[in-house]
Amino acid sequence: MSGEQMRTTVSIIKADIGSVAGHHTVHPKQIEAAKQHLEKARKENLITDYYVFHCGDDLELLMTHGNGENNPKIHEFAWNTFKEISETVSKPLKLYAAGQDLLGEAFSGNVKGMGPGVAEMEFEERKSEPIVVFAADKTEPGAWNLPLFKIFADPFSTAGLVIDPSMHGGFTFRVMDVMENKNVDLACPAEMYDVIALLGTPGRYVIERIYRTSDKLLASVASTSRLSLIAGRYVGKDDPVCIVRGQHGLPSVGEVLAPFGMPHLVAGWMRGSHHGPLMPVSLENAKCTFFDGPPRVVALGFQVSDGHIVGVNENEPADLFDDPAFDKARATANELADYLRRQGEFMPARLGPDEMEYTTLPQVLDRLKDRLKPIA
Ligand code: F6R
Ligand code: MG
Ligand code: MG
Repeated sequence: MSGEQMRTTVSIIKADIGSVAGHHTVHPKQIEAAKQHLEKARKENLITDYYVFHCGDDLELLMTHGNGENNPKIHEFAWNTFKEISETVSKPLKLYAAGQDLLGEAFSGNVKGMGPGVAEMEFEERKSEPIVVFAADKTEPGAWNLPLFKIFADPFSTAGLVIDPSMHGGFTFRVMDVMENKNVDLACPAEMYDVIALLGTPGRYVIERIYRTSDKLLASVASTSRLSLIAGRYVGKDDPVCIVRGQHGLPSVGEVLAPFGMPHLVAGWMRGSHHGPLMPVSLENAKCTFFDGPPRVVALGFQVSDGHIVGVNENEPADLFDDPAFDKARATANELADYLRRQGEFMPARLGPDEMEYTTLPQVLDRLKDRLKPIA
């Protein structure tokens, strides 16, 4: 770019539009079709660059473009892409739960609230712009609460909060109440206890975005949709996505990844009804098996350069959890998964009544209603 600063938008839009072997993984033809759609959009200059991948049964469209956040053209393009692949690939192959996340009827300007998950951030490219994109399967947006808190507010996790003067002023969390559709900005470290008070309830309070307090530099954006609140019933968990910028006055890529060394318990897993450990995995292992899980997360690392994705090999993003450094986390996750399963349907292995309200359990409980008699 000559002189003027380049504004770039990174968008990740994802949906479960059907999968192979139940909710195990996407079909290669879905990936192929998505690549064709995105390549066409690139040729038509709607987007600058793209990368198609999947996490479990979720098809993930990572795009860079110059259209800003919530752009109706980008959203409509993603919606139509999912719709068409659902019709031309998922349904003819009788993939499981074909079109599952496409809840809306006609496109209404923004895919938010229509089923797909979205995280988007527009920024002026810095001299060098390292990005990490996270995608998880069999869990919900609140799954990011703990790791994002550690990355941007915990000095025992992110050394830069203590050591780097440009991070020392801390970060501000925009926390959303998904039940009441409200949000609040809270600055860490000053309001850290309030941040924890909210984020400790991940089914209700989720992080929408995080910025550096000193200059409002946007540092992270996460998806916040709750499908059950859109549909009023269980339609799968809202397998979430998240974008984090790194380095040079922001947490380093290593600090961004470090919290995933502890596979914390998240809500989701089988029938979206259980607590399970979030296991960091490579793209190769981003496919759920044991009890439809355990919940998994992938991390893709790349540089953004004049709107282009700069990665490794064929310019693919680096597969950051494809590393023996995360073997211990995976072993712990498997240990925890096994332990929790031995507890069957007894809480807290199974989620509490608030969360179960959106599943099929109330139908079962309903049948017992008349048999429950007042005690004389
Ligand atoms: C989790 C998920 C699966 C299904 C489960 C039962 O998000 O989608 O765990 O809930 O496989 O699916 P059905 O009821 O369609 O057989
Ligand atoms: Mg599915
Ligand atoms: Mg999924």
